[in-house]
Amino acid sequence: MMYEVVIPAAGQGKRMKAGVNKQLIELQNEPLIVRTLKVFENDEWCRGIIVVINEAERTQFEQLFSRFHIKKITAIVSGGKERQHSVYNGLKAVKNGDIVLIHDGARPFVTIEHIHELVKEAKEHGAAIPAVRVKDTIKKARDQFVEETVERSSLWAVQTPQAFHVSLVLRAHEQAQKDGYIGTDDASLVERIGGKVKIVEGDYRNIKLTTPDDLLFAEAILSSWVIS
Ligand code: CTP
Ligand code: MG
Repeated sequence: MMYEVVIPAAGQGKRMKAGVNKQLIELQNEPLIVRTLKVFENDEWCRGIIVVINEAERTQFEQLFSRFHIKKITAIVSGGKERQHSVYNGLKAVKNGDIVLIHDGARPFVTIEHIHELVKEAKEHGAAIPAVRVKDTIKKARDQFVEETVERSSLWAVQTPQAFHVSLVLRAHEQAQKDGYIGTDDASLVERIGGKVKIVEGDYRNIKLTTPDDLLFAEAILSSWVIS
């Protein structure tokens, strides 16, 4: 079951406070974006990778792709102001396959096993997303006083890769663009045009590197892989 993947990597990584786009930070001698790309490079179901970059960083990224022998890249497109704009630009470069995945450049620990489960579920249902059960108690508050304790059993923390029929996710992005709507993930755009989204139970290790603390967790995850 073949798919294409769009990888947005055009952010600034402000919360990481590294002074550069966090995609370029090295984890055990390999830049974050390279680690993420290698997962798809090594997945035989992946027929092409579309990377979305900041135009000012194009040369740097292109050099990395050749230095680390990433061969499946079919397009390197320019990002936009918000992640959603970057993803939309990437989607426009998708050829005519039936399934597309959208995956954060900043999530290097996704496994091929999970990718395949998502592709199969998306094929059947139109859209499939990985998510993990929320472990903490969640409260809704105003001005730092609790308004309500939210029922936890129905809550999921959502990750990427999110997998879709190409035509469905394109239609969802086009509608959002038309309405000036910005969602916090791609599935939410599909939800608002009435699409069904299947949840696939994910892996707590599939973290997005967002703040400096996440570098510690990333090192721990990498070390555990060497041991096991
Ligand atoms: N992204 C993108 N285009 C944007 C914003 C984000 O392609 N305009 C990408 C990021 O590069 C990242 C992914 O979307 O791989 C998830 O976004 P996030 O974790 O928020 O990364 P940044 O926006 O780079 O970080 P920050 O919000 O801390 O600045
Ligand atoms: Mg961001």
